[in-house]
Parts: sequence; structure tokens; C-alpha cells
Amino acid sequence: MGALLLAALLCAGSVSAQGQACWRQEPVLTDSAVGKAAVEGQGLTITPSEAFLGKRTRVFPFTCRIEEGTDFEVASFGGIPGIYNGVTRQPGEIFLLAGVINGDEPIDGAVIYGFNTSGGGIQQTWSTQLINTTEVDEWNYPGVMALDSQGRLVVVYGYHLAALDASTGEVLQGFAAFTACPLYEGNSTMVLVDGDSLEVKQVLELPGAFGGRISSGIYEGTEYIYLTGTGGSALRWVYGNGEVVQDDSWQGEYKLNKLSTPASSLAMIGDWVVTMTNGLQSLTPMFMTAISQKDASITHSVTPFEATLRELNGSIAENIKAKTIVSWGVSAISADPENMMVYPFDFVAGRVAGYRLSAKGFEKAWEEPQRTANFMQLLGGSKDRMLVGTNVPGLPALPTMEELTTYTEEYLQFRDAASGRLLAETPDLGAARGLPSAPGFGNEYFYWTANTLNKLTYKLAAKPADEGGASAAPAPAPAATPASAGTVARGQEAAVTLALAGAALALLL
Ligand SMILES: *[C@@H]1O[C@H](CO)[C@@H](O)[C@H](O)[C@H]1NC(C)=O
Ligand SMILES: *[C@@H]1O[C@H](CO)[C@@H](O)[C@H](O)[C@H]1NC(C)=O
Ligand SMILES: *[C@@H]1O[C@H](CO)[C@@H](O)[C@H](O)[C@H]1NC(C)=O
Ligand SMILES: *[C@@H]1O[C@H](CO)[C@@H](O)[C@H](O)[C@H]1NC(C)=O
Repeated sequence: MGALLLAALLCAGSVSAQGQACWRQEPVLTDSAVGKAAVEGQGLTITPSEAFLGKRTRVFPFTCRIEEGTDFEVASFGGIPGIYNGVTRQPGEIFLLAGVINGDEPIDGAVIYGFNTSGGGIQQTWSTQLINTTEVDEWNYPGVMALDSQGRLVVVYGYHLAALDASTGEVLQGFAAFTACPLYEGNSTMVLVDGDSLEVKQVLELPGAFGGRISSGIYEGTEYIYLTGTGGSALRWVYGNGEVVQDDSWQGEYKLNKLSTPASSLAMIGDWVVTMTNGLQSLTPMFMTAISQKDASITHSVTPFEATLRELNGSIAENIKAKTIVSWGVSAISADPENMMVYPFDFVAGRVAGYRLSAKGFEKAWEEPQRTANFMQLLGGSKDRMLVGTNVPGLPALPTMEELTTYTEEYLQFRDAASGRLLAETPDLGAARGLPSAPGFGNEYFYWTANTLNKLTYKLAAKPADEGGASAAPAPAPAATPASAGTVARGQEAAVTLALAGAALALLL
């Protein structure tokens, strides 16, 4: 019997003019569930696109450091409408969830693709259309795709859940696990789903509307689930004996002010959970907060890019008056528990930073100009960890929303995570606009835009593996990653943002 797979479906408030406003999260794989199989080297990956496990650190331990200054070979496969996320299973395979993100081509709901990437190029092996939202007049929401411990693709799309045979694309389990989204007026819902049967085991009404994705992992022997709420709240639930119960003894608060927009998901790191505000565009600089998992009244916070914003454009008070957007933490923070480092970034300030976290609070290690909306990943062993994220070149110091949503060039940067030093960068790969990218096996990395899948190959550093699990050999190390994502919700606000074609990823956080 498989462990439970925790799928969170958040249905938030309000019926919009277009119909239902239901917001879905992807399944979250808990420590006790599928993610563990991947960690133990069974070669399975779960949503490599965003984080390795439910703790949302975005550390992908079974990956390798690249050779400094290496060149990248790029193979591309275009013409896929509306790609959102991708997962790998074994070397030579990648699967994409498409049909769900506005790009250049029309989209009509989830279509899953299988590709063969062995050999030099990329070949499509199958595709399965799960729904035609235009035909059945349903809401097209990205949801997510993961790979479970049985090697099945598990897809959340709109308010449906399906399992597919990854080798053939055949739908194994009907897509009716959720047949309707209850139209709650305001409060979100968390749903617990059995990882084998995909049956709904528990439905909890949450005490409010929750944005940000679910984070889940074991801390001091207990399996917790964390969510950020509105107004700066952070709450947690305990998962045990097959059910989820709110932990009333822990009620956290992350720092924000009245111009901040909500924080996205929390990353679990050491004794802390860490998050950053401004998941949506904001007139005020971002706050980053750590809350103790032991005692929620113990917190540390900093405004990582405030000083930089002052340098870029003097008076923040003036900007507020002029309604200048100064911050947008589009995706979510990355965190390295082995080195106790966290990595905030801001798409508007155009900066990425590394901060150390200890009982004394945050201490800045480095800050570099880099403009990204994407989930940054931590690759390699703990001694030689790299931070990988995109960079959008050529925009002014404080770009406008128009500029941030219509740019066309974007590429990847690989940095030494401890020092911020740039190790390598790819050529232009096209605008990802916050879409996640994903490490593959060995020396492969996948990067996609809304309609093109790119496979990058590069040289690995000739360094022995360290205890962190990285191998220098291009041999198929156990897969890269898993994990999950989340986001969401807040009915109308989110609906409005989603309508900004293609730029919508703020919400997927
Ligand atoms: C993938 O492609 C390679 C050649 O590039 C071929 O040898 C192999 O059989 C293909 N695998 C599948 C599952 O189609
Ligand atoms: C979905 O249905 C519409 C209306 O019948 C049709 O025009 C469109 O081509 C279909 N899309 C796909 C991907 O099959
Ligand atoms: C939402 O949850 C709060 C706290 O549990 C509760 O007081 C309130 O009645 C709920 N709202 C709705 C519309 O159910
Ligand atoms: C700073 O932003 C304000 C508001 O957009 C703008 O009027 C001003 O010109 C900017 N100053 C600089 C130095 O860019």
C-alpha cells in the first residue's frame, strides 16, 4: 500500500463573471509519501519543476555541479500549446503538462505529452488530451503534474485529478476524483487523497482564504503542513493516523505592511519556516521572514532589496505616491537546509541574494543583479551547491509591468550558491515568464517557454561526489527531483492576474 499523497485543492471564494473561480494546487508529496521513494533513489521524480520535496526548499540533491564556463548544447521541440510543467522518470524521458498556459497558440485544457530525449534531439512519443474546456465549457486552470511511486503521471487540472501510464499516455484512473468545486464564499478547502486509489480521504474547510502552496515535511518526528494566509498569518496542521488536524498551538505571523501583497509558500529549513512577501506586484519592498517551528512567537525578518531599491530610485515614499511597482516576488523562496542559506529574489528590483539564517537572524552573504520570475533551484552536493535561475536581460533598472510582461529574451544562470559567483550561463532560450525549469539526469537540464521544450546538455565539473549525493559522472544519477507547488488563490484578484496572458505565473506560486 502506498502512503497517502496529499493533494490540496483550494477552492476560494466568489463566482466571477466567467463562471466558477476555483483555484487548485498541485499534489504535495509528503516526506512519508512518494518523495521519499525518489530520495531513496528509486529513480522517480516528482514535479522536478519546482521543488524536490514538500518542504519546498528546491534543493535537488541528486544533481551535479557543472564545469565552470561550460558551453551548452540546445535541442528544441516547438509548437506545443500552453506548457506549464514537466517531470522526468528515467533518462531519456520527459513528460509535459500543456494546454493550460496562455501563450501564442490557442489552448483548450490539459494535454499531456511524452517525449524521448535519448539521442541528440527530442521526439514526441505520445500525447493525451484530458479535457477540452472549450467544448465542455469549463474553467481552464493549470493545476500540475507529478510522477508517483508507481511510475504513474498524476495530473491535477481544473478540479479534476487523473492518473496516466507514463509509457503510453493511457488514462488509468478516470478523471473524476473531484467532480465539482464547492463554491465556498471565502474559505479555502484542503483535500487529502489516497496516493494509490486517488480516493478522497478527508476534506477540511480552512479558517479563511489561503494563497501560497502547501508545504509539508517532518520536523522533530511530526509531519506538519504549513500554509500562509492573508494578512500575514502562517498556520500549520499535523498529519498523522491518516488525517490532518490543525495545530492550534502554533500560529505564526510573517512581516508585511499595508502595501505588501501576500507571501507565497513557506520553505521548511532547520528549525524555521521561511517566506517572502509580494507574490503579486507591490508598491513596497519585499519582506523576508523566518518563523521558528518550535515556537511561532520567535521570528526574524529583513527587507532584502530595500537598500538596492533606494539606490535605484531614491525615495520609496515618492514611488508609492506615483504608484510605481517596486517589487514582485513572483515565485517562491529557495532554501538550503544543509548550509542554512536562503535565496530571495525580486523580479522588479532585478536582484537575487543569498542570506545565512541562524538563531541570530538573517545575515546577507551576497547580492547580485539578476532578474528572474522563476523558481530558483539548488543543484549539486551540499559542499558545492549551485543556484540556478533565469535572467531577463536588457530591461531598465525599474521596469514597468508592461516591460515585465512583454520581454522576449531570457536565459539561465548557474551561480555558486555560497558566494553568488557566476559559473556559467546559457544562450537566450526565449521568455519563460516564470515557468519553472527542471534538472534532468546527468548533464541534462530542461527549460521551456509556453510553447517550446528545450533540452540543454553541458559538461560536468570533474569533481568527486561529496556526501550531499551529487555525482560527477554523467551517469544517470537517481533522478532529480520532486515536489510541488502551490498557490493560489484569492478569487478575484487571482482571476484578474490570470487574465494577463502568459504573465500569470504569480499565481502559480
Ligand atoms: C528513444 O530514441 C532512441 C533513439 O534516439 C531509440 O533507440 C529508443 O528506442 C527510443 N525509445 C523509445 C521508448 O521510444
Ligand atoms: C476544443 O473544442 C473546440 C470546439 O469544439 C475546437 O474548436 C478545438 O479545436 C478543440 N481543441 C482541441 C485541442 O481539440
Ligand atoms: C471561514 O472560517 C472562519 C474561521 O473558521 C469562520 O468563522 C467563518 O464562518 C468561515 N466563513 C464561511 C463563509 O464559512
Ligand atoms: C522614480 O520613480 C518615480 C515614480 O515613477 C519617477 O517619477 C522618477 O522619475 C523615478 N526616479 C528615478 C531617478 O528614476
